[in-house]
Amino acid sequence: MSFSKLLRRCSRTVRLQPAKAWIVLSSLLLINIFFLYLLSAHPSPWVTKHGSFVPRGLGRGRGEGACGPLRFADPPLPVTALASVPGSGNTWLRHLLQQATGIMTGSMYNDSTLYTSGFPGEGVNNGSVLVVKTHSSDPEVRGQFRRAILLLRQPHAAILSEFHRQHGGHLGHASRQHFDEDWETFVPEEARFWRVFNTEWLQFAGPLHIVCYEDLRHDLNSTLSKLLGFLNVPVDRKDFECALRRSRGKFKRRDKSGRASENHSLSEVFTRDMKRIIGESDVKFHEELKKFYHRRSTWLDPDA
Ligand SMILES: *[C@@H]1O[C@H](CO)[C@@H](O)[C@H](O)[C@H]1NC(C)=O
Ligand SMILES: *[C@@H]1O[C@H](CO)[C@@H](O)[C@H](O)[C@H]1NC(C)=O
Ligand SMILES: *[C@@H]1O[C@H](CO)[C@@H](O)[C@H](O)[C@H]1NC(C)=O
Ligand SMILES: *[C@@H]1O[C@H](CO)[C@@H](O)[C@H](O)[C@H]1NC(C)=O
Repeated sequence: MSFSKLLRRCSRTVRLQPAKAWIVLSSLLLINIFFLYLLSAHPSPWVTKHGSFVPRGLGRGRGEGACGPLRFADPPLPVTALASVPGSGNTWLRHLLQQATGIMTGSMYNDSTLYTSGFPGEGVNNGSVLVVKTHSSDPEVRGQFRRAILLLRQPHAAILSEFHRQHGGHLGHASRQHFDEDWETFVPEEARFWRVFNTEWLQFAGPLHIVCYEDLRHDLNSTLSKLLGFLNVPVDRKDFECALRRSRGKFKRRDKSGRASENHSLSEVFTRDMKRIIGESDVKFHEELKKFYHRRSTWLDPDA
């Protein structure tokens, strides 16, 4: 399985040239480096438990990290899922949406540390919040929502990110020992989960908007604009620009300082077999995605 196949942009069946693939690969690596740095530099109870990403300054309401005060949606909005496999950048997207709209995002879960770190809608599962986070693709869960956003991330990056989350602890990343013990069984299970979860959400009966983590990273302006268009809430131009500005600043700063702490290259971490397994999941899912776009082509253009 070639890297170019693994690294196709998630919503498009575009094959990257090898040179381009390495650029993407390096940026993916930098993203992971940056997560790892954040985690190792600032362990908190939530990070210890989840090992995932909360932008700094979020807990201060109107403070440094916020573009404005957050409110509940009133009148309520159609109940909207934000569905993703863990490790796909769900928290980051919630943060961006909150910054741009001033409306709280919710969750099917109630994580007390998220609740107190800039996500006061955590635990709310109805139209009072802009979107509701879920990591479940059960039909009963899907049936609770009127609209849905499916957040996709390239499988190898999501799998590695989730592995670090589960094993990270205070240091924020899985150790060599964890890789030796659990990685080999973890990868096929997660690759399968990635495929099944995303495929099941394609069966969602209502309006479904697919957003790619990689597109958010590479073209936040237009990717976020389209997503906000789908959500159909009024967005203040100043807030939107603030959301773009705040997001970029954080990423730039942390990438730079985080670089030194990374010690895993993707080619080192994924064996040939693992790449093959992930690649198969990826290919199978993309077949489903093609069918989905075909079914929905009257109202949703994948490249629009
Ligand atoms: C979520 O948990 C916090 C305490 O951690 C609590 O104050 C809040 O009311 C809960 N939210 C919901 C919607 O249950
Ligand atoms: C949504 O849930 C919250 C708490 O769980 C509640 O306070 C609020 O009234 C609910 N909103 C709607 C529209 O049902
Ligand atoms: C975002 O895109 C719009 C339209 O393409 C453009 O007018 C605006 O300047 C862009 N904003 C930023 C911050 O790049
Ligand atoms: C990186 O991993 C190698 C083993 O694969 C180890 O020998 C080396 O000390 C590690 N470097 C850092 C900075 O952790």
